[in-house]
Amino acid sequence: MITLALSKGRILDETLPLLAAAGISVDPAVLDSRKLILPTADPGLRLIIVRASDVPTYVQYGAADIGVAGKDVLLEHGGEGLYQPIDLRIGRCRLCVAVRRGFDYAASVRSGARLRVATKYTMVAREHFAAKGVHVDPIKLYGSMELAPLVGLADAIVDVVSTGSTLKANDLVEVEDIMSISARLVVNQAAFKTRRAALAPLLAALERAVEQSGVQPSVSSLVLSSVPPALPSGSANARVGSSS
Ligand code: ATP
Ligand code: PRP
Repeated sequence: MITLALSKGRILDETLPLLAAAGISVDPAVLDSRKLILPTADPGLRLIIVRASDVPTYVQYGAADIGVAGKDVLLEHGGEGLYQPIDLRIGRCRLCVAVRRGFDYAASVRSGARLRVATKYTMVAREHFAAKGVHVDPIKLYGSMELAPLVGLADAIVDVVSTGSTLKANDLVEVEDIMSISARLVVNQAAFKTRRAALAPLLAALERAVEQSGVQPSVSSLVLSSVPPALPSGSANARVGSSS
């Protein structure tokens, strides 16, 4: 039995069509239930429903063989124990730095001021600002980051942006684009080796489904992830490099 970890919401919603294209359906009644372990039409595959930020942990420790997680979540987790063989091209957004309209971010940075940055992504934020030589105090939040600059909790936020409507509605402006984000299929490194025969057809089918979806990869996904040299036959991911 292969266990696939997914989070409810956009990851589940956008993964289901890829599974369907790979020939795997899930009973809608099961999806509507409060169950956390869900069967699929394939007796060899079950889903488990976890928080988006917990997907890498379940896969890292082998409680799930594979999972679907945003690159934002994977960067924050660190990717230990995971291969990231397929950019699923879903959950597309950008990680960015935003501030209150009227806040002179450039001047603040130039003056060497210490910035308070509210974010779910404290590791990513630390790295981003350290690389630019900007001093920051990250403040860990779990949601509604856009509120923090409005009520004096932070000078800036690091968060994902898609349409920009949440920033706009809260009178924030984007001042730096950190990177483009999409969801990746992650695989437990041990399972990748020991359960290769079971996993290979599923990975190949998902990869075909992504290609057939017609969505183009973002530029950053061309330098994908840590993947072992030999992937299931037909995999396009032999071209892979860093663990980004
Ligand atoms: P958690 O429950 O752990 O806090 P979450 O609330 O961020 O997670 P979702 O909002 O479902 O979970 O987001 C899952 C993933 O989808 C994110 O990690 C990110 O990669 C991507 N994502 C987040 N916001 C958007 C958006 N507005 N548009 C497109 N993709 C997004
Ligand atoms: C995410 C993110 C932003 C919003 C950006 O929140 O945290 O608030 O999407 O999308 P936009 O640019 O299209 O407005 P989400 O909707 O996932 O809610 P959350 O706070 O529960 O994560």
